[in-house]
Amino acid sequence: MLDGSGLAARLSERRAAGAERDALLRAAVEGIEASSKHYDWVGVYLLEGGELRLHNYIGEETEHTRIAVGHGVCGTAVAENRDINVPDVRALDNYIACSAHTRSEIVVLIRDPETGTVHGQLDLDSDREAAFTDEDERELKIVAGWLGGLF
Ligand code: SME
Repeated sequence: MLDGSGLAARLSERRAAGAERDALLRAAVEGIEASSKHYDWVGVYLLEGGELRLHNYIGEETEHTRIAVGHGVCGTAVAENRDINVPDVRALDNYIACSAHTRSEIVVLIRDPETGTVHGQLDLDSDREAAFTDEDERELKIVAGWLGGLF
């Protein structure tokens, strides 16, 4: 189970020791991925130049390194300014498949802590249906909230 506060504390220590944003975004992905065997793909997309660009990830290689706002689960989360938890991706019309094995997906937006401006998102896929619980979402929001302070 992901401990968002614990991961945020470790990231804070690394930041205090001089780690920069790219390294911290990588460390966040590593920390999240290591916390659950049900997290089969974990990545960060950043909103740059009006589109989502894949910053770093752990999991099956993907060709979806750029996603337009409004497309797929990732782009819809930005367009609708909300986190999205999809229990069964096969039920979606606008799903962009990274892996044929994926059954559920969650996107949690990374926001500026003061303005709420969206800077990117955490994107997780699982090969299990309905893998992401309210607790997963709550802990991921803590990590995303911490990452929002890096922009
Ligand atoms: N499934 C996402 C695309 C990103 S991959 O999962 C890594 C979507 O529908 O936006």
